[in-house]
Amino acid sequence: MLPINLQQAGIFNQKTLTQNEFNTFATEFFDKAKNNLIDNPPAFFSVLDDQKNQTEILNYVQKEKENFDNFIICGIGGSALGTRAVRDAINHKKTKLTILDTIDPDYLTSFIKKDFSRTLFLIISKSGTTLETMSQFFFFKDLVKKQNLNWKKHFIFITGKKGILKDIANENNIKTFPVPEKLGGRYSVMSAVGLLPLALDDININNLIKGAKKAREETLSSDIENNIPLKLATAEFLLKKSISVAFIYNKKLESLGMFWRQLLAESIGKNKKTGILPHVAIGTRDQHSDLQLFSEGPTNKLFTFIKEKKDPQLNLPKIKNKNFQYISQKSFSELIKASYKGVSKSLKEQNLPVQFIEIEEINEETIGKMLFYFEAEIAFLGQMFEVDPFNQPGVERGKIITKGLLEF
Ligand code: PA5
Repeated sequence: MLPINLQQAGIFNQKTLTQNEFNTFATEFFDKAKNNLIDNPPAFFSVLDDQKNQTEILNYVQKEKENFDNFIICGIGGSALGTRAVRDAINHKKTKLTILDTIDPDYLTSFIKKDFSRTLFLIISKSGTTLETMSQFFFFKDLVKKQNLNWKKHFIFITGKKGILKDIANENNIKTFPVPEKLGGRYSVMSAVGLLPLALDDININNLIKGAKKAREETLSSDIENNIPLKLATAEFLLKKSISVAFIYNKKLESLGMFWRQLLAESIGKNKKTGILPHVAIGTRDQHSDLQLFSEGPTNKLFTFIKEKKDPQLNLPKIKNKNFQYISQKSFSELIKASYKGVSKSLKEQNLPVQFIEIEEINEETIGKMLFYFEAEIAFLGQMFEVDPFNQPGVERGKIITKGLLEF
């Protein structure tokens, strides 16, 4: 049994897309894309081999973990979502990380009276100019100073080789870790952006990288049947749906869905004709909100059901009420599985395209794989749609206009 399995039988249909058409397209596309991937690998491929940086991260973590027991990440978008995806999947019950991708004062106020003597702030911004992250930095620096702490010992920066944040670090002798120049924010989880905070949170980053490297191998392999990113991208491209729904049946994987959402939205939505709106639904919760629309609304959606196969055993007691005999002594896992199967079947019966990603067990290695699969899926999809999946001019335009409004 593969640790992660993709089943796509439910996307094929004589009228819309046959398995034959799918295979022919995927094979021809991959023949052209493969050499380029090998000769000119995207930065998220090569960052996995930056052993020097990985060792430096582990050494730093070993040294500094004694001094701090909680870590606050100031960062947003690609500087936060990958870390949260892994943290929530692995460590949701005992995390030491606070991921602050908000400047909502209602939330920030709650930090004013906190004791920061054992807190390390990680200021994560590739550009070093992002409004949210930089305003958080100045806010917390001030709070730390007010507690008569040496603020310089409570901050580290993860940023580009040049820029304002790097300058502030140099002026104040603050430790920095680099974000490689060619690595875009949403593809940066396997650089210090994700690896450093995750290692501080006791997550085994070696296994995370190991999983991503295995996924990279599969992505470069011509064995199309086992090339999950290629198959995911091909389905998105050939089905031509304007909305893609990740229907996730483990609460701890909701943030992985959000990571995928950013990748798809920010990388592919590039002109008036190209873009797919990603939507993350959580099972069983959103069966009671989205499902009516999914089932009987417009047929403009591809559904990807995602689930971990291994669940903790938690059983219901013996129930005497005759109306509920059908769940007496059943496990919650059985209830979820029945919902997952039932809902996907009902969509399939409406001739809607449904595919499944099943993960044997969530751990650092399988999550590392999933992150890479999604990054590679989107890189392939960019090539298929002939858009640059690594830039985000629309985001940058918003940042510039916002800055202009605050300057006057
Ligand atoms: O994917 C991206 O490039 C963006 O989402 C960025 O990560 C986000 O805008 C934050 O940028 P920065 O890391 O420069 O603060």
